[in-house]
Amino acid sequence: MTAPNSARPSIGITALGSFAPARVVKNEEFEARMDTTAEWIESRTGIRERRFSAPDEFTSDVGLGAVRDLLARDPDGLKDVDMVICATASPDAMFPSTAALIAGQVGLAGAGAFDLSTACSGFVYGLGMARGLIQGGTARRVLVIGAETITKIVDQEDRNTAILFGDGAGAVVVGPVPEGYGFQDFVLGADSAGGSSLYSRFLAHQLPGGFPMGKWTGMNGREVFKFAVRVLGDSGAEVLAKSGVKSADVDWVVPHQANVRIIEAAAQRFGVPMSKMVMNLDRYGNTSSATVPLAMKEAVDDGRVKDGQQILLVAFGGGLSWAAATLKWWSGAPSVQARGWAGRPEAQPEAVSV
Ligand code: ACO
Repeated sequence: MTAPNSARPSIGITALGSFAPARVVKNEEFEARMDTTAEWIESRTGIRERRFSAPDEFTSDVGLGAVRDLLARDPDGLKDVDMVICATASPDAMFPSTAALIAGQVGLAGAGAFDLSTACSGFVYGLGMARGLIQGGTARRVLVIGAETITKIVDQEDRNTAILFGDGAGAVVVGPVPEGYGFQDFVLGADSAGGSSLYSRFLAHQLPGGFPMGKWTGMNGREVFKFAVRVLGDSGAEVLAKSGVKSADVDWVVPHQANVRIIEAAAQRFGVPMSKMVMNLDRYGNTSSATVPLAMKEAVDDGRVKDGQQILLVAFGGGLSWAAATLKWWSGAPSVQARGWAGRPEAQPEAVSV
């Protein structure tokens, strides 16, 4: 196995946890209250159900749930963490940051903490920031959280968007791993030319150029679909080429879980069969920045992802933005090993998380 970057220390994932709110919302619930059918939703998206946060449950709460799960799996998992990044499109507040709110509740007060805003690409962006902060000497270990209560910023009366999204969180610790393991390369990008295809309003009523934004998260589904197929495929292929990895040598792809048809088209584009795609959007829908860590944890727990395997992460989101990463999985710490259960809530022995 060659070292990902021989001049710098190898940096990878050393701890892992996730959380999803308790309330399960099935497609049939939308069928009962808007002009849609459960069959339409499943056939057009691949989603069967998703989780909704409670009215008084916010992003710091679900993010905290993921970090507590990480600690339940590995009580030493946060050792040496001196920086916290929370990727989120639905923060509790503009400030204090959701990262700081979570840090203060898990014994990390005093660590650096900031939120990262690239919508659904945010978690993979955060992994790239974490590696850079460690290799540059700014941090020793970084807690990277992808957390959302995105259903709270989506118009629950709008059939175009309401059916797609769910709430949840994933958390990982990024830190030194043995040589030959860990992150190899990242491809991170954004292009505001497509910004009006997917937006969530804050201060301004319109985007530069005059595009008016409504009160809720807005989306041009067809435009986002075309963009997503292109950038997932292209950024995946680009990061593989950058790392010198052939698509035939990829063991698992963990893609952003937005739509099964987007994932199928992207898989074809970078030449990896669907059997190697880690999927859970049927049960969680699009949890924005939380999809990649939620899916990754399931694949680790049920034993699909094994020590030394080649992993490809690919995501896209508002911005429009994209993020792809290659890594060799290291399973040397307690919470990043297979658990011997199906990785699903109903199969998990202790009800500490999803
Ligand atoms: N039930 C029934 N009909 C619907 C529904 C619904 N829930 N939603 C839309 N339709 C209708 C549309 O109004 C349209 O009707 P029309 O032809 O009379 O105008 C028809 O279905 C077909 O619309 P399309 O947009 O062509 O449907 P498509 O097959 O593309 O599926 C979807 C729509 C699922 C939204 C798809 O375009 C998609 O997944 N796009 C990407 C969305 C995405 O990934 N967003 C998240 C981005 S990540 C982030 O950063 C937040």
